[in-house]
Amino acid sequence: MPALLRPLFVVCCCVLVSLARAAAPAGEPIKIGFFMSITGRDASFGEAALRGARLAIDDLNAAGGILGRPVELVVEDNRSLAGESATAAKKLIGRDKVIALVGECASSRTLEAAPVAQLAGVPLVTPASTNPRVTAVGDSIFRVCFADPFQGAVLATYAWKTLGLRRAALLIDASASYSVGLAEVFAKTFTALGGEVVASQKYAGGDKDFRAQLTAIRATRADAIFLPGYYVEAGLAAQQSRELGLHATLLGGDGFEAPQLLEIGGPALEGTVYSTHYSAESAAPASRRFVTAYTARHGSAPVGLAALTYDAVNLIADAARRAGSTERSALKQALAATRDFPGVTGRTTLDENRDALKDAAIIAVRGGRCVFVESIRP
Ligand code: PHE
Repeated sequence: MPALLRPLFVVCCCVLVSLARAAAPAGEPIKIGFFMSITGRDASFGEAALRGARLAIDDLNAAGGILGRPVELVVEDNRSLAGESATAAKKLIGRDKVIALVGECASSRTLEAAPVAQLAGVPLVTPASTNPRVTAVGDSIFRVCFADPFQGAVLATYAWKTLGLRRAALLIDASASYSVGLAEVFAKTFTALGGEVVASQKYAGGDKDFRAQLTAIRATRADAIFLPGYYVEAGLAAQQSRELGLHATLLGGDGFEAPQLLEIGGPALEGTVYSTHYSAESAAPASRRFVTAYTARHGSAPVGLAALTYDAVNLIADAARRAGSTERSALKQALAATRDFPGVTGRTTLDENRDALKDAAIIAVRGGRCVFVESIRP
């Protein structure tokens, strides 16, 4: 190109780029409340979810915001503690006047906040709480992930049919709704298939020593230990079970999925199998774009929780657009009517219980890595 024309070419390009970009959002920001375990025992969950939420907010604002207004995320940290999430929800609703809440990951903590949202009529979208009681709180509560009646059945069937396991011991966090509920479904499906539940041992979230329970399990000659808990306890229990000479296959649910799982459990986790919501290896174009943007920002691929939280925020924006309003009841109605919403975790359709139907991904720990094995349809 002749040197003289070059400035003109640059100007033309700039004009085209700015035309292609959506009009910048203007006016008072629309606030979305976010409460999660940003610090404390389950901080890995909070971090992943926050990253997903922030990326969604940035993408929304770059695309013109919600109904032309900028979107802001207001963050509350419950420090992974019981008894903090209702207060967080009250603050976000009363003080910040958020249009909707996104949170929590742990079912027990979502169950604390859900009655507050329900009473205020403010929609709460949980990205990852899988206990069935969560959305049963009422018509203000939605989830973008599968629920545990599905997850528990998938795991028990996989354990029985694919892994050939026959004698399962349960190691349950009695303080977590997720753990208690998921253990129940697993046991029911596993025994219906012909398997035997040979032990049911309990712990409380935050415990560090599982040797007494594992010693009792060792005596039952279990070939599987189902631990429906979170990554810290899973990693510790894996280590201690190997120290005690147990060779049973360790099985878990979505609570296992955190980069720290392998750091804590190390080689003791080899052969562990768990289910989760999403694989960053998915070839779907929406997922590829998300993985690229997330990895560029954070230097590592997203876990399922980050992807689900990205989808939860976008689902709220989509509902507001369809409703043409951010008013509570209009927003709730539009959320309830969500059909085939294209997200990074696949298409989200909410059923009459405001639950999503999604595939479960089976992950196995092989050669010190978490490897995607297969996807199981509802
Ligand atoms: N499903 C878990 C619960 O309900 C939370 C969880 C989701 C943890 C996704 C990790 C990843 O408590």
